[in-house]
Amino acid sequence: MPMDRLQRPLRDVRISLTDHCNFRCPYCMPAAVFGDSYRFLPTETLLTFEEITRLSRLFIALGAQKLRLTGGEPLMRPKVEALIRDLAALEGVQDLALTTNGYLLPTKAEALKAAGLHRLTISLDSMDDGVFQAMNGGRSSLGRVLEGIAAAERAGFAPLKINAVIQKGVNDHTLRDLAQFCKGRGYILRLIEYMDVGNHNGWSLDQVVTAEEMLSLIGGDMGLEPLPANYSGEVALRFGYRDGAGEIGIVASVTKPFCRVCTRLRLSADGSLYTCLFATKGIDLRTPLRAGAADEELSAMISGAWLRRTDRYSEIRAEVNENSPRPQKVEMHKVGG
Ligand code: GTP
Ligand code: 5AD
Ligand code: SF4
Ligand code: SF4
Repeated sequence: MPMDRLQRPLRDVRISLTDHCNFRCPYCMPAAVFGDSYRFLPTETLLTFEEITRLSRLFIALGAQKLRLTGGEPLMRPKVEALIRDLAALEGVQDLALTTNGYLLPTKAEALKAAGLHRLTISLDSMDDGVFQAMNGGRSSLGRVLEGIAAAERAGFAPLKINAVIQKGVNDHTLRDLAQFCKGRGYILRLIEYMDVGNHNGWSLDQVVTAEEMLSLIGGDMGLEPLPANYSGEVALRFGYRDGAGEIGIVASVTKPFCRVCTRLRLSADGSLYTCLFATKGIDLRTPLRAGAADEELSAMISGAWLRRTDRYSEIRAEVNENSPRPQKVEMHKVGG
């Protein structure tokens, strides 16, 4: 099994199914940039389900155990359940998960479960409708996503994970409500430090609510205590409720980077490999794939990319940002969250 230059194995592949999204979260796809004239990937450049399944088999042979489907919004890819059926049937897939904004779950949740999806993570940034709408670019009411969450639960996904990006002065004042909502229903809340992904969100350090600040916003009276990681490479710091009402996780990629144990590889919807969420360049697999490359050749390209990997952006963020002008980073909606 290939180890990268920092002795990290490949364990987790995040597969983006489309760069489209029906939301315009300002921290990811601000509407001013991703407007009517923005050119998304042409359909013919998107990997087909057969191509994704073939590459997934190769990733697994190289050590990957987890597959996570992302976007953009992965449920916007027509017939996504057909892909899930194929991936779930692959030998060696220990974990098959999907991250969604929840908008399409009322109609899709049952089909996802029936197709064999193991786990669902749903993004929900606030329990205040006004704040929620501001954070999705006015594309969805809170009620619609809550319906999606309820549909996922009815379909049998448990425990659900809820992702919330916390931004200073935007939704930090509603964080405690969100924690209470999730605690009451047994959902695992993932609080995410706001990151400088892509090139358009105007990120600055003073908009970050740190993991420590998040814990104090939840409040000592909620009875949280630290828990050990589930597995090496887990991105979230875990905290459990003392009364047994479940847990929360904090993804502190700004204040407590986890690059040292990062075992993630990303595949964009148009078939390029990225060895980091903040990569500036991908490795094109689609061209050789469509030119008739054999499995061995494709596998050699993937393992070569992994063997050369030195990425640790979150650990060196400050240095990189001092050296401007810097190359454009890949957009998060292209390689998934
Ligand atoms: P589980 O499989 O449930 O443990 O989820 P996960 O640990 O893969 O986390 P998830 O996919 O829910 O990611 C949560 C958030 O963490 C993402 O939406 C990103 O914002 C952030 N994140 C995930 N992976 C990385 C990474 O490799 N680097 C950085 N910097 N952030 C990441
Ligand atoms: N900072 C942190 N997380 C982000 N996401 C998108 N943009 C950002 C950002 N700037 C994450 C959100 C969402 C997932 C798809 O990507 O958690 O739930
Ligand atoms: Fe869409 Fe998710 Fe990005 Fe929001 S964070 S714009 S829901 S891909
Ligand atoms: Fe992995 Fe890059 Fe994120 Fe570090 S910044 S944890 S190397 S994806």
